[in-house]
Amino acid sequence: RPGAQQWVPDDPDVDGIRAAAPDCRGCELWADATQVVVSAGPPDADVMLVGEQPGDQEDRDGEPFVGPAGRLLGEAIEAAGIDRDRVYVTNAVKHFRFQERGKRRLHKKPAIAHIKACWPWLEAELAAVRPAVVVAMGATAGRAVLGRDVKVGEERGQVLSEDPAVLVTAHPSSVIRLRGRKGYDEAFDALVADLGAGALLAG
Ligand code: URA
Ligand code: SF4
Repeated sequence: RPGAQQWVPDDPDVDGIRAAAPDCRGCELWADATQVVVSAGPPDADVMLVGEQPGDQEDRDGEPFVGPAGRLLGEAIEAAGIDRDRVYVTNAVKHFRFQERGKRRLHKKPAIAHIKACWPWLEAELAAVRPAVVVAMGATAGRAVLGRDVKVGEERGQVLSEDPAVLVTAHPSSVIRLRGRKGYDEAFDALVADLGAGALLAG
């Protein structure tokens, strides 16, 4: 059976998830990646932020959101006034999918099959962390968390599911793409507002 399920321990805590994930062969993405990237943040966080997949820098470091998107996300979390100790960050897909272009590795969006294959890890994280609020950043994270197609522009900032409360917002990379252009400030402020709304719901 395809998918990560057989590599996920029964009822793991976050340490157990982090220990088991390197062995995962639930889809083909492990083969070209440097390493698995699971999550960062405390296992008792009340807010879980879900991204798409690790990027180039994350793949090298083994930590989520340490590259450009991570820096922007950090700025947005700070601007929203959210204490980092409350936040657990992870991704819908745990291995970097890319396309080689000369020496460069260009991000390639995960397919729905990768999101489905990797879901057992995110499912286990949700069960282990039990966050009050999940903020899915971007359409890939939205699909993973809600199990359906999500239109970020139409659905962002609203509570789309309960227990845990699920909100979607833009992916930080989509904000980075607007840097130096019209619309950047609005996009950044909208991300901050959605993160703030999530943190407020978490209490
Ligand atoms: N983008 C993501 O979605 N996740 C990361 O960890 C880094 C960049
Ligand atoms: Fe396993 Fe997810 Fe990596 Fe695929 S992307 S090998 S399912 S951890």
